[in-house]
Amino acid sequence: MTAQIINGKEIAEKKKVQIAEEVKLLKAKGVTPGLAVILVGNNHASRTYVSNKQKTCEELGMYSLLIELPEETPEVELLSKIEELNGDSKIHGILVQLPLPEHIDEKKVIETITPAKDVDGFHPINIGRMMAGQNAFLPCTPFGIMVLLEESGISISGKNAVVVGRSNIVGKPVGQLLLNQNATVTYCHSRTKDLAVHTSQADILIAAVGIPNFIRAEHVKEGAVVIDVGINRNDEGKLCGDVAFNEVREKAGYITPVPKGVGPMTITMLMYNTLKSAKETLR
Ligand code: GUN
Repeated sequence: MTAQIINGKEIAEKKKVQIAEEVKLLKAKGVTPGLAVILVGNNHASRTYVSNKQKTCEELGMYSLLIELPEETPEVELLSKIEELNGDSKIHGILVQLPLPEHIDEKKVIETITPAKDVDGFHPINIGRMMAGQNAFLPCTPFGIMVLLEESGISISGKNAVVVGRSNIVGKPVGQLLLNQNATVTYCHSRTKDLAVHTSQADILIAAVGIPNFIRAEHVKEGAVVIDVGINRNDEGKLCGDVAFNEVREKAGYITPVPKGVGPMTITMLMYNTLKSAKETLR
């Protein structure tokens, strides 16, 4: 079998058109969705991500506010900036770009963002609501994966889903979202014995480990849906995922490429969450 490629770029573009239309309607009612992004320090990759977020905001007609703070910014100063944004009615979403400099406590920062503007879905209140299946901001990458599955017509209920990776940002929440939709979920990680025993049972396999070519054909069941969350550089400096794409595509039923797979969905769902937050101010 040669897998059908799930085109994340195309699906993201389609979603962005829908979001832009809703932004227009909301603006007609006097509300412009606004996203504040805080960047502390000079991490090169972070700067690129932040600039992409700003560009996408503008492309969709949203208000975007970039707050750049120097590397040595004291933690209290960052927390007071967040509190100011919590009370700013032009701002519906607050995102503090991670990682932060070492002297700043990430947990304190996340917990200072009001859950109502936590468009990253990282606040414990939103994590708890997500677990309980309540209305919540869903973390953008896991949310984007669920949209990719839905848009590709892949049913989840009753399927065996195996998540490789257990990060707070991707692995843990994507397993939870799959469980919420009635998948039977298995988590694998660096201490898992006999990985292939588990992954070869997967109807839906999510690779989120951050190791190039970690998932090989031998790990994958014939016809499985393979979602590659990895963004790595291989020995030649070329962008690659966690899945050995060329061999796995010959065995899988569906597969996401890297780039143009999961990546474009993350920013799109951030825009979706900012719009959702802005809409909720009208309720
Ligand atoms: N750094 C890398 N990915 C993310 C993300 O999704 N949100 C934030 N805030 N920082 C990140």
